[in-house]
Amino acid sequence: MKVPDTSKWRGWWKGWYGLIPARFIGKTDPLVGLDIGSRAIKLVQLEQRDQGYRLHRCGLKRLYPGMLDGERSPNKSALVSAIKELFEECGVRVTRVAISISGPSVIIKRIRIPMMAMEEVEQYLVWNSQQYIPYDSDELYLDFHVVPQVNPGRKSTQLDLFLVAAKKDLVEQRRKLVENAGLDPVVCEVDSLALTNMYILTDCPNSHQTVLLVNIGASGMNMAVVRGGKPVLMRDASTGGDRYNDRIRSTLHCSEKRADQVLFSQVEERDFLPLLAEVHEEIGGEIKRTIEYLAETEPGGTMDKVLLCGGYARAPGLVESLSRFLGLPVEHIDPFHGVEVDESGVDRDALYNLAPLAAVGMGLASRRAGDR
Ligand SMILES: Nc1ncnc2c1ncn2[C@@H]1O[C@H](COP(=O)(O)OP(=O)(O)OP(=O)(O)O)[C@@H](O)[C@H]1O
Ligand SMILES: [Mg+2]
Repeated sequence: MKVPDTSKWRGWWKGWYGLIPARFIGKTDPLVGLDIGSRAIKLVQLEQRDQGYRLHRCGLKRLYPGMLDGERSPNKSALVSAIKELFEECGVRVTRVAISISGPSVIIKRIRIPMMAMEEVEQYLVWNSQQYIPYDSDELYLDFHVVPQVNPGRKSTQLDLFLVAAKKDLVEQRRKLVENAGLDPVVCEVDSLALTNMYILTDCPNSHQTVLLVNIGASGMNMAVVRGGKPVLMRDASTGGDRYNDRIRSTLHCSEKRADQVLFSQVEERDFLPLLAEVHEEIGGEIKRTIEYLAETEPGGTMDKVLLCGGYARAPGLVESLSRFLGLPVEHIDPFHGVEVDESGVDRDALYNLAPLAAVGMGLASRRAGDR
């Protein structure tokens, strides 16, 4: 029996890649990372160098509230235009992209199955998916990745997997959206896995530290636990930065835009700290649940630190509040750490503002067609 190679951790979604006419895609061709969120579309293009990566292009396009719902409606032209404009503004002509999904239509489960050859795992999951995911498998795309063993030398009778199920219509809607913008979606990933790849790419995590990566977007949070550079746990939650916006709007009776300005302004924040504190706690509660789940499912599963990214990672007082609440070091992660920057295509000053929002895009941009 061939034991699966668990030494590498790259991206996946092989099933989806299989839908694209593979003969047209070179396996090492670069992909552009395209992170389509509910409030912003982020683009990252990397060049692979002998010594790591070079950031070639990076940009962002804001979306107005409800615009992403257009993905589901026949009138999605504003969204398509936004994607096209972003590519034009960034001067990117490569059309092959890696995209991602997350949220309630995506289920990520860590499961344990009997040890078997890699070729047999897919078949096993097709036959047994109901046992793990109580939905009609005809409506889902399924994929999996083997969780690397802690002691690779030890013979094991069981195989740990991340099983991912995504609603087919969600994946297909997103696929059509990017195709309408003239792009070739080659790879589809889940946000928390893209985060893991970003961390492995930029932070040289060869220590045995266990870190929790938390991407705080507008509509939700993506969390990934990584130990010694290997993924241990992934979880999404539906608490997102929109909660800050909602609280400020309902108090000030102002527009979304004004609420955003208030949230990120240095001057007025003091008046709103008590209001923000409630949302900090909600976010902290979700992070705590992940840490507790890890402690329950993994013997010795303690956490060393929490690393934040996403558009709301810099909400005033969040780092301090989480650190107090969790009793752990909490820091921001720089997704561009250790990455050379192509100054002809990227404005270094703008990168500081973009950094927290580019984390998922960085992970996506490191993907190659057909890697796994
Ligand atoms: N420099 C910046 N440019 C644009 N938005 C920023 C910036 N800094 C903070 N933000 C905030 O980040 C939010 C978007 O964050 P992010 O891109 O992480 O969310 P998203 O991916 O669109 O949401 P989700 O994935 O949850 O649907 C914006 O609504 C804005 O309030
Ligand atoms: Mg997002």
